[in-house]
Amino acid sequence: MSIFITMEGVDGAGKSTHIPTIANLLRQQGREVLITREPGGTPLGEQLRELLLHEAMHPETETMLMFAARREHIEQVIKPALARGVTVLSDRFTDATFAYQSGGRGVSPEKIRQLETWVQGDFQPHLTLLFDLPVEISTERLAGARSPDRFEREGTDFFDRIRNAYLQRAEAFPERFRIIDSSRTIEEISRELSEIISTL
Ligand code: TMP
Repeated sequence: MSIFITMEGVDGAGKSTHIPTIANLLRQQGREVLITREPGGTPLGEQLRELLLHEAMHPETETMLMFAARREHIEQVIKPALARGVTVLSDRFTDATFAYQSGGRGVSPEKIRQLETWVQGDFQPHLTLLFDLPVEISTERLAGARSPDRFEREGTDFFDRIRNAYLQRAEAFPERFRIIDSSRTIEEISRELSEIISTL
């Protein structure tokens, strides 16, 4: 069976480090794996990503552009891959919009839910890995980033609200979320990921 897996967490929580590990674990099960990301994943989506990461805009514009990119991503990449039996691993998806645009920027969650229904219907990830880390540690990691984008330049309060919004999403959808304690060593995290993937 093809599976749609998403990875989430505040900037600096370390999810990118583990993408190759997760992909390898899935391949060891004989699955074909497609790694993709949001915002992005399609030529238009990548252009929208550039705007989203670098142009100042209203939080609701930001929200709608995230969903515009997502619309392309779902129709052109995610659903066709799943239909071919491919397992899709996406670095972020709609939980990020609830966490960043609602938790972080204060956009009404109800408006985001409306866009979610419009763009996705009842299409949801099968599994969401939330890489969770105290914000003091994740922002310290970001401080070393060379040319931070519009999101990475935000302060601790912003990321604290995002982290809390993610944890609330995990609480609301326990059947889909797995929280990964990202303060541990890479080896410990890899071991937990291996256990999670082995149950799929
Ligand atoms: P990345 O750095 O993990 O690739 O993600 C790019 C940025 O976009 C990151 O700071 C989180 C942000 N983002 C949102 O604010 N809302 C969303 O819906 C998505 C997918 C990403």
